[in-house]
Amino acid sequence: MPDLFSATLSATPLIVSPLPCNDFLTEKIGKDLPVPIPRPALPVALTAFGAILVAAAVGAADPADTPRTMEALGERLFSDVNISANRTQSCASCHDPNFAFSDPRGMASPGDDGVSLGDRNAPTASYAALTPAFHQNADGAWIGGQFLDGRAATLADQAGGPPLNPIEMGMPDKASVVARLAEDPVYLEAFPALFGAGILNDPEAGYAAMTEAIAAFEATELFAPFDSKYDRFLRGEVELTRDEELGRLLFFSQQFTNCNQCHQLSRSQIDPRETFTDYAYHNIGTPENVALREMNAVPLGTIDDGLLANPAVDDPAQRGKFRTPTLRNVAVTGPYMHNGVFQDLRTVVLFYNIYNTRSEARLINPETGTPFGPAPVPETISMEELTHGPALEDERIDALVAFLKTLTDARYEYLLEE
Ligand code: HEC
Ligand code: HEC
Repeated sequence: MPDLFSATLSATPLIVSPLPCNDFLTEKIGKDLPVPIPRPALPVALTAFGAILVAAAVGAADPADTPRTMEALGERLFSDVNISANRTQSCASCHDPNFAFSDPRGMASPGDDGVSLGDRNAPTASYAALTPAFHQNADGAWIGGQFLDGRAATLADQAGGPPLNPIEMGMPDKASVVARLAEDPVYLEAFPALFGAGILNDPEAGYAAMTEAIAAFEATELFAPFDSKYDRFLRGEVELTRDEELGRLLFFSQQFTNCNQCHQLSRSQIDPRETFTDYAYHNIGTPENVALREMNAVPLGTIDDGLLANPAVDDPAQRGKFRTPTLRNVAVTGPYMHNGVFQDLRTVVLFYNIYNTRSEARLINPETGTPFGPAPVPETISMEELTHGPALEDERIDALVAFLKTLTDARYEYLLEE
């Protein structure tokens, strides 16, 4: 038993501070889905960022809004509703730059038709550029890839999906998307300048150029600033509160929790580029989201195959596994899990605790008042990892939540106070 660690833990007074109420999360989870919320064409954060890029790159003779770099072009495309069938939806509609590139509107995102509702929660696109391409490691385990089942190998592959997805942006084919691009004088200038003359006359090449530009934008520092309180703590700029520090110790402990078995990438516990995911696939037994399925008309009991839904995978042992998500910005990107079944971060931690608790009362989901639902694919659950460690008392649960909140990028910290 690592004495130093347990000494630190027991020496830390377990003060239970009342958990700051997470009402902002509950409030921003639209009860009125699927009504689309109109959004500004260019969110503030993006406009400011674009201004910097454009100012840096544009010569005096150019119109101020013509992007001259892949990143700046990608930024414009990311917020462009014209690449959706009814011109109502852009990437930013479901990956809102003001909410860490996730969708604050609810468990699932309404599509461009205003009606269609998917079966998965829009994950944050922040830090997504750091996800490795989909591959198998030396042990044969699947790692990385974009989408929760890794079915797009890279960010550029991913960006090609939504415009043609009938329940997302709903365009019929690549040619019609590229034709939309060619309607815009800014693109008519920017695309040939960056990709060569005639690029928008070629649907395949033009579409690929669009996805490359979007991926370049998603790889900018705006998406991965590493400036959360946790990062500032690692750099010695701020101190953590007692609760946050206890949460940090618990999170990285080999003994008191299991979190870092899946949510730690680096061997070092103080790696400044930690993204809090092993990028591997696990089944943690996330229950069905009954409320979502009542709204989106997916029949109850339908199983999301997760990794097995990836066309590259045909091994039934992968059924029901999802790529471990990053925990960066997690406090401001609820609801949680692939299906958005939990609204509150504390409920997520209580959910993990069902694998270790012996208390009946602890099997109750506080959001529904009934027991956490059964695992849809019980046979592939990562039971060994999940049952590692003791049951968690309230103060430890609160501490873990406090720690998770420190992973919020500086520009979203104000959301924690709402
Ligand atoms: C209608 C809402 C919607 C729109 C529009 C949309 N997305 Fe998504 N996005 C989602 C959902 C839902 C997922 C998860 C889907 C899945 O795993 O099957 C996702 C997944 C992603 C991911 C993968 C993140 C990860 O960790 O695996 C990225 C990156 C992303 N979207 C970027 C984009 C870009 C770029 C666009 C515009 C070209 C876009 N999205 C348009 C809803 C949307
Ligand atoms: C066996 C691997 C594993 C372990 C152990 C584990 N997680 Fe996870 N975690 C996952 C996977 C996989 C998901 C996504 C599941 C899904 O979407 O259904 C997830 C989801 C989450 C989410 C929701 C993220 C989001 O954006 O929706 C949070 C928060 C979280 N885990 C925190 C923790 C904490 C805290 C611990 C320790 C108490 C922990 N996890 C232990 C693999 C794990």
